[in-house]
Amino acid sequence: MDRIRVRGGRRLEGEIEISGAKNATLPLMIASLLSAERLTLENVPHLADVTLLARILRNHGVDIAMEGKRSGAPPHPGETYHLEAREIVDTTAPYDLVAKMRASFWVLGPLLARCHEARVSMPGGCAIGTRPVDLYLMGLSELGAEIDVEGGYVVARAPGGLRGGRIIFPKVSVGATICVMMAASLARGETVIENAAREPEVGDVARCLQAMGARIDGIDTGTLTIAGVSSLGAARHAVLPDRIETGTYAMAVAATGGDVLLKGARAELLEAALDVLERAGVAIKPEDGAIRVRRNDVPLQPVDVETRPFPGFPTDLQAQLMALMTRAAGTSTIRETIFENRFMHVQELVRLGANITLQGDLATVRGVAQLKGAPVMATDLRASVSLVIAGLAAEGETIINRVYHLDRGFENLERKLGNCGAVIERLSS
Ligand code: EPZ
Repeated sequence: MDRIRVRGGRRLEGEIEISGAKNATLPLMIASLLSAERLTLENVPHLADVTLLARILRNHGVDIAMEGKRSGAPPHPGETYHLEAREIVDTTAPYDLVAKMRASFWVLGPLLARCHEARVSMPGGCAIGTRPVDLYLMGLSELGAEIDVEGGYVVARAPGGLRGGRIIFPKVSVGATICVMMAASLARGETVIENAAREPEVGDVARCLQAMGARIDGIDTGTLTIAGVSSLGAARHAVLPDRIETGTYAMAVAATGGDVLLKGARAELLEAALDVLERAGVAIKPEDGAIRVRRNDVPLQPVDVETRPFPGFPTDLQAQLMALMTRAAGTSTIRETIFENRFMHVQELVRLGANITLQGDLATVRGVAQLKGAPVMATDLRASVSLVIAGLAAEGETIINRVYHLDRGFENLERKLGNCGAVIERLSS
């Protein structure tokens, strides 16, 4: 299993190209199931999750071609994918594939809308919390689906097709909003989704569906109104930049000190996180099509932060912020309100010398003068990258095990950081 070795203590200086957003790419690829015509996606990041989802979609009958991809070609920013689901050949998403990636559960909505039936394995537990699917089932039932859970599978049927409905989500869910919005695009009549997730990735998917011919109002607001159409057509759509990758590199620069231009980043996608960094004493300057992040020798100030649905501070940056605050001049508090168990990085950060105590959903981080490198291991994507950030800021060598977590969501991480002066390398085994 690959590992990453980081030798800390270097400032980061240079430029980093921000990739297309993983969490938009996955549902955008799934949207191809809704149409018999070609969906072309530009700026698709090269990630393990994307490769796995392509496998899952091929299983359902989606024909997928990557433009300009030659084996052995150097990694390039953003690939173009052509996805064409002329015929859905299988409406079952099996356990062995869905269990590997939760987002693949989202095929339930499009398969049900287009084929009037779907059988999708329950996604199962996950390292960051229990993550139930009740909101998906509630939303699709409101659209007229009959739903049973049999042998670990959600079996959904809508013999005469889905119809419009009114859904009031009791809790904000990115996945349930996307899944129901996709299904409603092909339902008969109008659907209203209240308390819809406003994450930029939801808006990106909605805009792509519009380009395919869907009629969606209220994009980027908490109320989506969808007038169903009988079929969707071809479209071309460029994936929006990854706000979590942007925030992650911004925090890396904040942790090591330095001056880095994050190219392609859009500040409006992560204002809450950039505000927190400014409060911590980091200089943030949006430039034309980029964001410049700078920290000189000023000490980091502690912050008090709560994760929230968009436009609040994202749970997907919580671990990275915690890594940063381990070095602040004072005590920070970080409350995780989205997932109940997203603190697996804490014990690993402590191995590097961090002073963190946990009480329920609240982490108290007392800044220390210096972290010291150590071997560490993480259990999810964002936790892993928080260890990279801590390793970059630590004295000496940090070895990060289970790199496959990072490969799920960060394109060319070592190259991007290495180009800015980080001493980081992959150790293959
Ligand atoms: C998406 O997950 C992201 N995944 C997550 O990113 C992200 O952390 C999360 O949204 C929150 O922003 C992708 O986009 C692929 P939710 P999702 O449904 O949709 C509860 C990463 O690292 N809930 O918005 O699965 C749930 O348990 C990943 O890139 C229910 O109770 O998250 C959680 O407490 C990790 N019932 C809350 O809602 C349901 O039926 C928000 O989860 C569904 C969700």
